[in-house]
Amino acid sequence: MRKITIAIDGYSSTGKSTIAKRLASALNYIYVDTGAMYRAVTLFALQEGIINDKGELDKAALVDKLSEIHLKFLPNKQTGRSEMFLNDENVEQEIRSMRVSGFVSPVAAIKEVREKLVKIQQAMGKDKGIVMDGRDIGTVVFPDAELKLFMTASPETRAARRYKELLEKGEKVSYPEVLKNVEERDRIDSTRTISPLTQAKDAIEFDNSDMGLEEQFERIYDYSQRVI
Ligand code: C5P
Repeated sequence: MRKITIAIDGYSSTGKSTIAKRLASALNYIYVDTGAMYRAVTLFALQEGIINDKGELDKAALVDKLSEIHLKFLPNKQTGRSEMFLNDENVEQEIRSMRVSGFVSPVAAIKEVREKLVKIQQAMGKDKGIVMDGRDIGTVVFPDAELKLFMTASPETRAARRYKELLEKGEKVSYPEVLKNVEERDRIDSTRTISPLTQAKDAIEFDNSDMGLEEQFERIYDYSQRVI
């Protein structure tokens, strides 16, 4: 069976990663969560004081230190799930915090940050057999991907899902705060100059506002089988 590249893009908290992980596992493909990479760079900026206590981001300082950032995905020994490592430290939990979510979109709008991460992502997918999710996978990272999906859902649906996830992880957040973050990230991600979030012309739009996980998976798996 031939191996293909599957690009899954869309707004924040549309459930891209849940479906991408499941699809990768069913197809025995590699799964890459590119949002985790932008989040890890953001965490680095916070740890280094490149984002200061007032929340100001020193772009030039971050660009200067980009070569000190080493990212790796390694499987968790118990669950087998891939987790993000920043300079050999497991940061999987920390990168999902609201603090990181609050700063990630401005960090992801920096040209040099994107250039560095896109290069790594393209190298990971050079042999195909990959499901990658993000914002610019079908437009910039793999414009020739054989299957492209663009996931959407209403901001309220997405914020409700994210709110539930954060509560389950024990974060003290309010629903309005999460909704505001989701809307703000959508705004910055879609209006930035470099690689804005847009639907690739050849992507299938997939609105999952009223769809359970099982139905989503079945439909998307079916799309993949038509292409493979
Ligand atoms: O997918 P996730 O919500 O974890 O992504 C976090 C942020 O990383 C997004 O809001 C966006 O600003 C940025 N991102 C990006 N390009 C990607 C993946 C994520 O700009 N390919």
